[in-house]
Amino acid sequence: MLRIFVVGILVLSTQGILSPENDDVLDLIRHAGYRGAAYQTATEDNGWIVKIHRIFPRRKMANTMPVFLMHGLFVNSMDYILTGRNKALGYLLADNNFDVFMGNSRGSRHSFVDHKRANYSNLWNFSFNEIGSYDVAAMIDYVLRLTGKPKLFFVGHSQGTTSLIALLSTRPEYNSKIIQAHLFAPVAFMKYLPNPFVKSFIVPLIEVLMERKMKFVNFTDILTAVNPLSKIFCNVAINPITTEFCKSVVFIFAGRNTYYSEIDTSILPDLVDHISYTLSVQQVDHYLQSYRSGKFRKYDYGLNNMRIYGTPEPPEYNISNIIAPIYIYRATEDYLASRRDTEHLIELLPNVKHNRIIPNYNHADFNYGSRSRKVFFYDVLKFIQSESYYRH
Ligand SMILES: *[C@@H]1O[C@H](CO)[C@@H](O)[C@H](O)[C@H]1NC(C)=O
Ligand SMILES: *[C@@H]1O[C@H](CO)[C@@H](O)[C@H](O)[C@H]1NC(C)=O
Ligand SMILES: *[C@@H]1O[C@H](CO)[C@@H](O)[C@H](O)[C@H]1NC(C)=O
Ligand SMILES: *[C@@H]1O[C@H](CO)[C@@H](O)[C@H](O)[C@H]1NC(C)=O
Repeated sequence: MLRIFVVGILVLSTQGILSPENDDVLDLIRHAGYRGAAYQTATEDNGWIVKIHRIFPRRKMANTMPVFLMHGLFVNSMDYILTGRNKALGYLLADNNFDVFMGNSRGSRHSFVDHKRANYSNLWNFSFNEIGSYDVAAMIDYVLRLTGKPKLFFVGHSQGTTSLIALLSTRPEYNSKIIQAHLFAPVAFMKYLPNPFVKSFIVPLIEVLMERKMKFVNFTDILTAVNPLSKIFCNVAINPITTEFCKSVVFIFAGRNTYYSEIDTSILPDLVDHISYTLSVQQVDHYLQSYRSGKFRKYDYGLNNMRIYGTPEPPEYNISNIIAPIYIYRATEDYLASRRDTEHLIELLPNVKHNRIIPNYNHADFNYGSRSRKVFFYDVLKFIQSESYYRH
């Protein structure tokens, strides 16, 4: 098992994914008519190297501010450009002369491993905790060094929000690097997780994988097989009836819209093309622990807690450390972030500037919804613009 997985990593990291010729996100940026770039940065703890994608501002301006966008579970930086030039948030920000940086987490398609520093036996031993306190931290520092700015704007969706919350509560010095943090569908507490599919299928599945000591799941072959089918079935112009099926797949994971789907299902084949194909088991298990315990705390290593944390139970994240200004956007039909859990988080956050409830939106509509520009991206832009001309 271990051998297969080490070989897998070697294959992944010798594919030369850092070369601009072979970067699907840079291709998307270029095809949309923008100028892009990619940077890599090492993380402190375990040999993972993560990649940052950049969209340059449309016009050159003297005091362009950086905005850093962080994706959710199983996806990557493509989340902020997938819907294209007139819809995606990444392009809206670049059109308005922001310097757009899109992060990628460890284990995602745009990460690789430094063989000299890696410890292969605990490489996949991570969750939003490490993604926040190491990957996001390293990428924020990288962007600030590159641009020469002391602070940036942060935008995150789902796990992108959990990882920021983990970072700011465990390394509070990062609060002063953030002008505003915009959180789409924030996830921290999961006591009231609404999703019946996750509860009845994913929970037992992860339990089995944990028992078998599987460190990560590789969906490459399944997704490669599904992709040609999704091109036929999810395109309403080709097949209006099966498109309903594609919508149901989204609804099962993300929540059911009451009136109509915000997502144009013809983007689903593109999503399958650009998604990250691997997922660490601990990454999902950490969320399931939050669901079972009702608490928002570090990963529960069971009998090893004492050795790792010095306490039998894992420590809770101290949310009162998060003093950066927080802007919340949540959805009424979100199957993963419930109203009660999000409200509990908001009560604990000391500096919430904006708390917007978007009706008939589900968990996936934030970045993939066709109308997101009108529905809330313009609000995000307005808040960011209101503070961009200060000397930060
Ligand atoms: C996942 O599977 C694909 C195809 O089977 C393989 O090429 C890739 O190296 C695997 N990834 C990892 C991390 O093992
Ligand atoms: C690698 O990680 C394992 C598991 O956490 C640990 O037991 C081992 O000591 C580590 N090896 C090195 C060289 O750090
Ligand atoms: C996972 O990481 C923790 C903290 O670094 C370490 O103590 C633990 O032994 C690791 N577990 C495994 C299964 O490698
Ligand atoms: C949490 O952080 C706050 C403010 O930074 C501090 O006053 C409080 O003592 C901390 N609580 C715990 C349990 O560490």
